[in-house]
Amino acid sequence: MKKPTLCVGLVCVDVVAETEGFPVEDTDQRIPDLSYRRGGNASNSSTVLAQLGMKSEFLGTLTNSMQLDFIREDFSKHCVTIEQCPIFPDCEFSTSIVIISTINGTQTILHHPKNLPELDIQHFSNLDLTNYSWIHFEGRSTNIDNIKQMIRTVRERLEYMKISVEIEKARPVLDELLPLADVVFVSKEYAYFSGFRTMKEAVEGFLDVTKPGTIVVCAWGSEGAAAGQNGTVVSQSACPPVQIVDTLGAGDTFNAAFIYSQVNLWDWEKGLEFACQIAGNKIGQKGFLGIGRFKHPVEALLKSQQQRR
Ligand SMILES: Nc1ncnc2c1ncn2[C@@H]1O[C@H](COP(=O)(O)OP(=O)(O)OP(=O)(O)O)[C@@H](O)[C@H]1O
Ligand SMILES: *[C@@H]1O[C@H](CO)[C@@H](O)[C@H](O)[C@H]1NC(C)=O
Ligand SMILES: *[C@@H]1O[C@H](CO)[C@@H](O)[C@H](O)[C@H]1NC(C)=O
Ligand SMILES: *[C@@H]1O[C@H](CO)[C@@H](O)[C@H](O)[C@H]1NC(C)=O
Ligand SMILES: *[C@@H]1O[C@H](CO)[C@@H](O)[C@H](O)[C@H]1NC(C)=O
Ligand SMILES: *[C@@H]1O[C@H](CO)[C@@H](O)[C@H](O)[C@H]1NC(C)=O
Repeated sequence: MKKPTLCVGLVCVDVVAETEGFPVEDTDQRIPDLSYRRGGNASNSSTVLAQLGMKSEFLGTLTNSMQLDFIREDFSKHCVTIEQCPIFPDCEFSTSIVIISTINGTQTILHHPKNLPELDIQHFSNLDLTNYSWIHFEGRSTNIDNIKQMIRTVRERLEYMKISVEIEKARPVLDELLPLADVVFVSKEYAYFSGFRTMKEAVEGFLDVTKPGTIVVCAWGSEGAAAGQNGTVVSQSACPPVQIVDTLGAGDTFNAAFIYSQVNLWDWEKGLEFACQIAGNKIGQKGFLGIGRFKHPVEALLKSQQQRR
């Protein structure tokens, strides 16, 4: 079996409230559903990698607060190990309140960062990096210097190690991460912020500022995603399920599925299609548990398409 993948970033607590229409200010209403979920982009991607059958580890800061048991149990339930995470005393996890209005499917997110320190290079330096098959970083503008140092540490110690980064938010400093990784995931938001209007345009544009051989991947919600390497760009339409149930974490699922394809040495065009298929299946169910069941059917589908070509 492959060595574990390592996802480095944030874990937080989401309180997800489902409402029929968006609430009116200064009113009181009953809602159909409320759930506590473990969130954070890297935390979600580590979950999906484990569900796809990889050994998966998450690295991020934890705190000894009342939510720690919930976070631990949820990682464990999804088969993600967290042994190397530093635990800070007397802090609180970042928390988001997510309001999902089911009428038009909008997600309104209120995020509070709380006081838990972010991961720094000291925590990372202690790892035995030879233990991993792939290292993925959540590109956080609030922790950019540490992330750059962590990437530098990997490059210095292990030339062969594959590194991916996710660039989500519209923050100019995140540009600095583009030339550092082997696979770069850029969001639609960041592409827009950088002046691109289509996913293909974005991939072409970002390829120009990455090192030769870098794979740039850009997901574009219900339109699908595009990817490219060395000047070749391909787009792939989305694969929606019969009924959309839960789109939270679709992007994290997509990223994890693409990483899975690369750890297994598939070509990136096939990886792009696989990632869209797995993300499409994910939004047809609630949460991530059990999405591994789609892996073999999707692989079989891609194989039969390849034979027909
Ligand atoms: N409404 C949708 N219909 C079909 N596929 C979708 C839809 N939304 C997302 N996807 C699939 O998920 C992939 C990732 O989408 P994207 O990153 O744009 O999602 P997102 O809305 O940002 O997700 P997140 O909840 O993580 O914010 C897309 O490339 C697509 O394959
Ligand atoms: C959501 O639906 C309501 C009711 O149809 C509408 O008034 C509102 O503008 C919609 N909001 C968004 C963001 O689409
Ligand atoms: C690396 O892997 C070896 C063998 O699986 C294990 O014994 C060791 O504890 C691991 N080291 C770290 C730092 O994870
Ligand atoms: C994580 O993903 C969500 C949804 O795609 C996005 O809104 C958010 O900005 C991301 N966070 C970071 C730190 O990139
Ligand atoms: C892309 O370019 C890099 C660097 O020039 C090269 O090593 C790699 O083999 C190329 N990859 C493909 C798929 O052409
Ligand atoms: C991560 O997944 C959880 C559970 O599905 C979800 O509540 C959360 O919004 C996702 N986080 C991001 C950043 O997408």
